[in-house]
Amino acid sequence: MRVLIVGANSGIGNALIRLIQERYRDAHIYGTWYQSYPTNLEGVELAHIDASNELDIRALAEQTGDLDWLINTVGLLHIDQLRPEKTVTQFDADFFNKNIKVNTLPSLFIAKYFRPAFKHNRPAHFATISAKVGSISDNRLGGWYSYRISKAALNMALKTISVEWQRSLPQVCVSALHPGTTDTRLSKPFQSNVPEGKLFSPQKTAGFIVDRLEKITAENTGNFWSWNGEKIPW
Ligand SMILES: NC(=O)c1ccc[n+]([C@@H]2O[C@H](COP(=O)([O-])OP(=O)(O)OC[C@H]3O[C@@H](n4cnc5c(N)ncnc54)[C@H](OP(=O)(O)O)[C@@H]3O)[C@@H](O)[C@H]2O)c1
Repeated sequence: MRVLIVGANSGIGNALIRLIQERYRDAHIYGTWYQSYPTNLEGVELAHIDASNELDIRALAEQTGDLDWLINTVGLLHIDQLRPEKTVTQFDADFFNKNIKVNTLPSLFIAKYFRPAFKHNRPAHFATISAKVGSISDNRLGGWYSYRISKAALNMALKTISVEWQRSLPQVCVSALHPGTTDTRLSKPFQSNVPEGKLFSPQKTAGFIVDRLEKITAENTGNFWSWNGEKIPW
């Protein structure tokens, strides 16, 4: 099995790599890192990329060859002192553009350049970690404008890629995945309101994700999956 995890040092991506190594001992795994190098990984081919940079994604696609699983785990919710908006009066164009850049663009660049990696005609997965707050129909609480919008746009991108690839790459299952609230740098400032038992370790979340990918095939392409296996309405 040949795997690429974009974001090998994200809390979730790092746990995914270690779980895949455990479950698939012969897996050839590629990973990417951006600002922080993952020091805890062995036997992984690591590339330094900015996932929002088209040229970096193009160069990566030239290095990795055929893939069975490609999972994009890169994401942004807050930066330095900038937190998700509580009200639209806090909306800031730079923060919005950063969310789109990190949460939306990379999956589009990946789909653009990794088509040849899936031409092998074996069942394959292209999945991106999205977030339930990107569901338009599930939006009951409001707030978090930039993150919500960037994940909703990501979801539309993935759905649209799935429709196109049903024709051109019919063996590939394209998915948006909601990991559940997971104890990572991204969720740290927002963990106090999480109900007991609902803050998952990255290892637990990685288990949900790998279990889901093992269960679904190209027949299930174009869906938004929750950690518990339920479909989330777009
Ligand atoms: N944790 C949760 O509760 C939760 C809930 C719902 C959805 N998610 C989603 O799950 C995914 C993984 O997040 P996480 O929780 O594992 O958070 P995390 O540990 O903060 O990981 C985010 C990763 O994104 C990388 N990144 C940011 N900008 C990048 C860029 N331009 N190019 C390449 N990499 C970049 C960061 O790399 P550096 O470390 O090198 O900066 C970091 O490794 C995200 O898409 C997030 O939205 C998480």
